[in-house]
Amino acid sequence: MAAVALKRTGQKMPLVGFGLWKVNRATCAETVYNALKAGYRLLDGAGDYGNEKEAGEGLRRAISDGIVKREDVFVTSKLWNTFHAHDHVKALAKKQLGLWGIDYFDLFLVHFPISLEYVDPSHRYPPEWWGDDKKVHLAKVPFQETWGAMEELVDEGLVKNIGVSNVQGSLLIDILRYAKYEPAVNQIELHPYLTQEPLIKLCGTLGIAITAYSSLGPQSYVELGADKGAKNLLEHDTIASIASKHSKSHAQVLLRWAVQQGLAVIPKSNNHDRLVQNLQVDAFQLSDAEIKEISSLNINLRLNDPADIDPRIAIFA
Ligand SMILES: NC(=O)c1ccc[n+]([C@@H]2O[C@H](COP(=O)([O-])OP(=O)(O)OC[C@H]3O[C@@H](n4cnc5c(N)ncnc54)[C@H](OP(=O)(O)O)[C@@H]3O)[C@@H](O)[C@H]2O)c1
Repeated sequence: MAAVALKRTGQKMPLVGFGLWKVNRATCAETVYNALKAGYRLLDGAGDYGNEKEAGEGLRRAISDGIVKREDVFVTSKLWNTFHAHDHVKALAKKQLGLWGIDYFDLFLVHFPISLEYVDPSHRYPPEWWGDDKKVHLAKVPFQETWGAMEELVDEGLVKNIGVSNVQGSLLIDILRYAKYEPAVNQIELHPYLTQEPLIKLCGTLGIAITAYSSLGPQSYVELGADKGAKNLLEHDTIASIASKHSKSHAQVLLRWAVQQGLAVIPKSNNHDRLVQNLQVDAFQLSDAEIKEISSLNINLRLNDPADIDPRIAIFA
């Protein structure tokens, strides 16, 4: 499977992985087991997804059944916003590893450059964006403190690579001013409605690999009532006509468009046939003209924007 070598460690990160956000908790272990059986070798989890224990069960079952070895699977997880303070970073990484039932993450990302007031996991986990009063409570933890703690996780062998998510140019450049270990990956929303060319270019210059999330566009946000009224990319005429030319599904064209640009993708599906289909994006090639035509659908539509939750956390402003 195509992969990208991460800086500092040189570890290979598969270009197609399985995304765990909104993978139903009740069927998550089975879904992860079947994803590994189908050939996925990257799992993209997060504390916030509330299914790390179940994902770990699926992974460990696949290991004990001899389908994969631990070292064959690239496991990503993410640190939530309420745990940015130095001591919380380590405590949560350990808690999350415990939920998965593994002893290291291949990649650990800071989920958002947003620091929120600590919520004790014994009180509520995952804590999401709000306090008990349903309001967002900001915390004054500078990103440098969080990053220093992330680096300590590497030194202690709890994580192999560290990175960021939802980070734009100015913060990336600032992290490089103090980083002992530079971010290996930036995981960002990226699809033909939000093509992010300047950020792709900057990350390329800095040697930071990009993982694109929500590659299928508004579809993922329909069930949350948050697709912002956008036309479904999976039904877009441009995508449909390119898909029919290559005898591929619409989703495969959207994923291929990203992978062919050297971006990693992590499609999610609760449906086994779609999950299998999403992995099969290596066996065809889009022409440069087709890539350009798809990129021209850009309307700078950002579906996952914390400003929609609270104007004080408008990190993309
Ligand atoms: N870092 C971050 O802040 C962040 C934010 C969002 C997402 N992510 C990560 O990125 C992953 C992917 O993003 P996402 O879950 O937002 O969206 P996505 O993978 O682009 O789309 C998922 C949606 O598309 C449907 N779908 C999947 N495969 C399909 C296919 N072949 N044909 C038609 N429909 C299909 C799924 O429904 P079914 O399940 O019914 O198939 C679901 O509604 C997440 O799971 C998560 O791991 C990270």
